[in-house]
Amino acid sequence: MILDHVEAIIDQLIAEIDFPQASELFSKLSGGKRLRARLILSIAPSHPDAPLLGAIVELIHAASLLHDDVIDEAMTRRGTPSVNATHGSKMAIMLGDILYSKAFSSLTSFDPLIARSIAESVTKLSVGEMMDVTMGEAFNSNRESYLKMLYLKTATLIESCAYCAALLEEKNPSSYAVYGKNLGLAFQIVDDILDITSNSVMLGKPALNDFVEGKTTLPYIDLYDELSKEDKEKLISFHGRSLDADEKEWLFSSMEKYGVIEKSYSYAQALCDEAILALPDENALRAIITTVIRRSY
Ligand code: FPP
Ligand code: MG
Repeated sequence: MILDHVEAIIDQLIAEIDFPQASELFSKLSGGKRLRARLILSIAPSHPDAPLLGAIVELIHAASLLHDDVIDEAMTRRGTPSVNATHGSKMAIMLGDILYSKAFSSLTSFDPLIARSIAESVTKLSVGEMMDVTMGEAFNSNRESYLKMLYLKTATLIESCAYCAALLEEKNPSSYAVYGKNLGLAFQIVDDILDITSNSVMLGKPALNDFVEGKTTLPYIDLYDELSKEDKEKLISFHGRSLDADEKEWLFSSMEKYGVIEKSYSYAQALCDEAILALPDENALRAIITTVIRRSY
């Protein structure tokens, strides 16, 4: 499988860092779904530099998650203890720094249009992370700012992957960027839904983790819109803290009553439809969309 080529390049880039402690720590990370590398390979299957670009983006993504887990004080990642949990926040930050600077060094071998697009998307995802943290300080009922933050935090890197892979393969980059942006937004919305609907074993973290961390995701915003004044106050009082069994029960039954999970799924589905509309003839990319919307973890 061609993704093996990406894994081999990742291993080679890590070996080039020439620091056993970093290699050892990196080897403990779970690779995850490799969505971004898969996307690049699907768009530019025959280009010789596509696997390297995929490897670079996966290192950037891994770095961003290492830092994100420190910022979110998350003790698990992909079902296993996070690096900050096992080795402390300092190690997690430094490994992230090593990975993303190595990725950026390799990026300089690409056409400046590609290097700039990826680099700019990393600035955007960092801005998105800062917005996410700031918005988490209070209950957020503003859908526009939530969607803007999602776009920056998650969709921009995926959008840039699609755009750059299209540039490599000499396809129309703007249509691929539209596809990537919508795929990225749908991906994060499904992620937010799964935080509410999945059990902790499947997700690798406790359900409702987002709201406990202070993140008011789309289903909570939709629920807020539906509730009476009194219940709005009740929902706000749940924000940013762990909930007891009765409170969880109220939350789940209110979400069911107003169909907010289905509403968020429909929104993610509409984004997927828009992505497909941008590239109607790309069957491989349609398959990626299906795996994003149907996944259960
Ligand atoms: C996960 O969000 C976080 C991101 C997708 C981006 C994080 C970005 C940074 C920390 C900027 C730094 C960038 C680099 C390259 C070092 P989440 O917390 O909603 O998702 P989760 O549930 O998977 O943790
Ligand atoms: Mg996080």
